Amino acid sequence: MDKKVNFIAMEEGTRNDYDLVFQHEAENGRNLLERILTWLKMMEGESPYKISRLEHVLQTATRAENDGADNETIVCALLHDIGDVLAPTNHSQIAAALLRPYVSDKNYWIVLHHGLFQGYYWMHHYDKDRDARDKLKDHPYYDACVKFCAHWDQVSFDPNYDTYPLEHFIPMLKEVFSKEPASFI
Ligand SMILES: [Fe+2]
Ligand SMILES: [Fe+2]
Repeated sequence: MDKKVNFIAMEEGTRNDYDLVFQHEAENGRNLLERILTWLKMMEGESPYKISRLEHVLQTATRAENDGADNETIVCALLHDIGDVLAPTNHSQIAAALLRPYVSDKNYWIVLHHGLFQGYYWMHHYDKDRDARDKLKDHPYYDACVKFCAHWDQVSFDPNYDTYPLEHFIPMLKEVFSKEPASFI
């Protein structure tokens, strides 16, 4: 990038400086899809499951599609574990934050809480409360998150399931990430 801002501290910046910064950010936004695909591909490789983490999310998205989910929901199923790459202990929050400007409140809420809801399937093996998710029982999206986990997420570790490849989902990713993003600064 040839042009640079004139400041070395933000408080000295002018409108022209920030125009340049936001121009660059817009360019960055247009490349977001490429970076998401790169990030997804980092989920390939070794895993203790019978399939890779990438195959898990592809299978989750495939099940969502086969159940007649809309494209936005399928994309959320595809990206729900993308936080694994950078934040293994709070991966749900990373995926939810990435998706939030582009998806409904409901889909955001489901992705944000899916880690807790998935705990139903493993926590009791560690003397933890598998029903910890029930503290959210009165929330309007509670049932949808239970279903997301029961029908799409927790079952998607099957090496024999007929799973669509990543390329299949690219048009849906393009559709969702070409929306004008909402701002959550
Ligand atoms: Fe997850
Ligand atoms: Fe998952």
